Amino acid sequence: MNPSFPLILGIESSCDETAAAVLAGGVVRSNVVASQEVHTRWGGVVPELASRAHQEHIVPVVREALDRAGVRKEDLDGIAFTRGPGLIGALLVGTCFARSLAQALGKPLLAVDHIQAHVLAHLIQDRDGGSVPAFPFLNLTVSGGHTQLVLVRSALDMEVVGRTLDDAAGEAFDKGGKIMGLPYPAGPLVDKHARDGNPNAFELAVPAIPGLDFSFSGIKTSFLYTVRQGEAVDPAFAEKRRDDLCASLQRAIIDHLLAKARRAMRGLGLQRIGIAGGVAANSGLRARLAQLGAKEGWEVFVPPFAYCTDNAAMIAMAGHHLYLAGRSAPLDTVPVARSD
Ligand code: KG4
Ligand code: ZN
Repeated sequence: MNPSFPLILGIESSCDETAAAVLAGGVVRSNVVASQEVHTRWGGVVPELASRAHQEHIVPVVREALDRAGVRKEDLDGIAFTRGPGLIGALLVGTCFARSLAQALGKPLLAVDHIQAHVLAHLIQDRDGGSVPAFPFLNLTVSGGHTQLVLVRSALDMEVVGRTLDDAAGEAFDKGGKIMGLPYPAGPLVDKHARDGNPNAFELAVPAIPGLDFSFSGIKTSFLYTVRQGEAVDPAFAEKRRDDLCASLQRAIIDHLLAKARRAMRGLGLQRIGIAGGVAANSGLRARLAQLGAKEGWEVFVPPFAYCTDNAAMIAMAGHHLYLAGRSAPLDTVPVARSD
């Protein structure tokens, strides 16, 4: 095998998606995701149920990724897996599987940080092409567990320059949706209803956090009061005004995200910006970032939808770079719930 064109298997099991993907020289050969529906009725991810579902899914998901890629496991050059952050019981399933496979095959084990992998989704190439950002660039990483501004100097050199002090942006969407009675995860539904709503219908709190950090608790609280006050007058308020409520909530979250992103871009003197993570799938955020980028003269990068939410192609992409840098992990590597 050509060492600069490695075949890497990626495995992701940090939360409620069991995923496996094969990359050949950084190009996607397969990308399989099994989502766990079991959490919907509980209004959030239940860690024990997640671990059990990962155990059920991991073998068929990896097998399918190899089959779709037309690759035998013996042909792989490295096994990449999500080491953390995430739910520890969920991470354990992917970690044990990856360790065993690497040991059985005698191939390098590549331990990946999930949040860095979200950023590296920008470097994934697939059949649809799409442009890849040059370094350095700023990344706004927005997922259900994290909200960060990251200065990306290279694939393996990243610096977090801003982070949320409380909820993540995805949680703000999910909790806001829950207040309106929407099922978990509410983010995609808020996005959908917001398209038919007026983003200026309700004024929500504007967070006053200094520097490049974020806070979403004020937006959430003011949204809760808005809904409760409306319901005091009309019990069907949240349902009748759903589109306007979703549009207003989404606007408040995006305003905050983009205000901080602009401050970081100007402060760091950067010209390229990307978004990644599950919330990067939000159509309002994509549109408004494109508008802001055009105004500010930035190049804007948004990964294809399939690589925004949790997936294993991004894990394999991180593994690809670790492999090229010769940074393999010991076979007794343990998962970590939080990043170092
Ligand atoms: O990155 P991800 O798949 O998992 C984590 O690592 O957290 O992100 C999941 C988060 C959830 O909070 C979900 O509601 C949110 O991303 N999300 C969205 C959209 N699609 C997913 N939020 C807003 N609009 C969307 N279209
Ligand atoms: Zn994620």
